[in-house]
Amino acid sequence: MQNKPDIYIINGPNLNLTGKRQPEIYGTESFSDFIPALQAEFPQVQLHYFQSNVEGELINKLHEAGFSAAGIILNAGAYTHTSVAIGDAVKAIQSPVIEVHMSNVWTREEFRHISYLSGVCRGVIAGFGFGSYRLALLSLLGS
Ligand code: DQA
Repeated sequence: MQNKPDIYIINGPNLNLTGKRQPEIYGTESFSDFIPALQAEFPQVQLHYFQSNVEGELINKLHEAGFSAAGIILNAGAYTHTSVAIGDAVKAIQSPVIEVHMSNVWTREEFRHISYLSGVCRGVIAGFGFGSYRLALLSLLGS
């Protein structure tokens, strides 16, 4: 049996509350519903889901996955706009990283227009809710 490519979805702070948190922005569905549905839609890959509210744990996961994963889909939440350290971690690893956001950050407050990740990621997808993750996965499959 052939090994499937490992794709990591790494979510940062507050994304564990998706479904309950600001539903007018992030919707009412949770990641515990979405991830199995995405896996069922893409049986040719092995998805790995990780979420943490702790900056260092996100960095540790990037280090752990980043030398073997076929791709990493990263929503660093608010750390996107503040974390030089997560940006450096993305630079340090080898796997392609796609920056994603559920909301269109450029239509929101100005502090959300700054990203320490965009310049070191392969691409950025924002504004499509859970669809941002799906599009990121499609982009990894096409690359
Ligand atoms: C977010 C956008 C960030 O600005 C925010 O801090 C989040 C979620 C998004 O998915 O739209 O926590 O990354």
